[in-house]
This record gives sequence, structure tokens and C-alpha cells, in this order.
Amino acid sequence: MELAPDLERVLIPPEAIARRVEELASEIESDYAGERELLFVGVLKGAFIFLADLTRRVRLPHTVDFMAISSYGKASVSSGAVRILMDLREPVVNKHVILVEDIVDSGRTLAYLQETFNGRRPASLRTCVLVRKERERADVGIDYLGFTIPDVWVVGYGLDLAERFRTLPYIAEVKRSLYQK
Ligand code: PRP
Repeated sequence: MELAPDLERVLIPPEAIARRVEELASEIESDYAGERELLFVGVLKGAFIFLADLTRRVRLPHTVDFMAISSYGKASVSSGAVRILMDLREPVVNKHVILVEDIVDSGRTLAYLQETFNGRRPASLRTCVLVRKERERADVGIDYLGFTIPDVWVVGYGLDLAERFRTLPYIAEVKRSLYQK
């Protein structure tokens, strides 16, 4: 596989992602068998590819919606505010919601979303995350997890570096010189 010069190595190849997505979909199918109101919420932009692949493998009736939230500025550790830029189209009351995220890093975004959704009284709330970084963080409660990865900057399969590399079919590590001064 030919890598772009800014990338260090492939961390998770396409076949491994596909296998894991299939497993997560099967888990979700057995956990929600018989439920009617299953709603997947993708958090833009990063989750768009994972959400599309995952939901196409879940053979249960379900709907899909999206949210966009503001980035708090990854370079700054002190500013912690997360803000909703685009909200859902439909209410979540009485729905079984699965929040779909591409990555959990500090955990702030997912913690904020969990709090926000719990306040909206869904029938239930679970989270499905493709990758989490292995560094220490407050426990944000991930119900379905694809992979744990080292604390490096990753791109591909929805993840970006200043909007680049989102549509790579694999997850790759970015060269440290690009994000560490
Ligand atoms: C990424 C990712 C998560 C968040 C995780 O989004 O999609 O939403 O960061 O980081 P955290 O655990 O430290 O909160 P980003 O703000 O880069 O926006 P994007 O999804 O549009 O790329």
C-alpha cells in the first residue's frame, strides 16, 4: 500500500476495519432484536464513514440522524467547551439511541453528548466508537468499541488532519513532525 508522505504507517487496514464493523453490527443486532425504535446518531464530520458502513450491516429496522458539534480546539487543553452546531431533525423521546463516534481522545465530546442526550429522555442510550486512544481519561462509557490505539494522531476512515485524509480506506498514523512542534 502506497502511503502519502505525511503518513507514518497504516495502523488498521481496511479488512480489519470491515471485520470489526461486522462484529459490532452483529452485537447490536442481538442486543436490540425485537426493538422497533432504533436510532443511530452520527457525529459529524468524523463518523460519516463508520456510520454508513455500520448501519448498512445492521439488519434491524432503524433510522439515522446526524449532529454536528464544534471542535474546542485540539491544540488547547484548557478550553473545554463543546457546542452544538447542527442538531437532530427529530426528537429522541422513546427511541433507543446509539451515538456513533469515530474516535474518543480526551473523552470530552462523548461525555458532553451523553449528558445532552440523557436530558432528552430517550428510551435508552448507548455509544458505539470505532477507536479510542489508550491514554488515561475519565471513563466515558463506551458500549461498543472497535479498537484501542496508541496515543498518536490518526487519519482515514472519517478522521482528518486539517480536513485532509478523511476518505482513506484505512486508519493511519500521521508523522509526529506534523502535529508536534
Ligand atoms: C473529533 C472526533 C470526536 C472528537 C473526539 O472531532 O470526531 O468528535 O474529536 O475528541 P475528544 O474525545 O478529545 O473530545 P473533531 O472535533 O476533530 O471534528 P470532526 O469530527 O469534524 O473531524
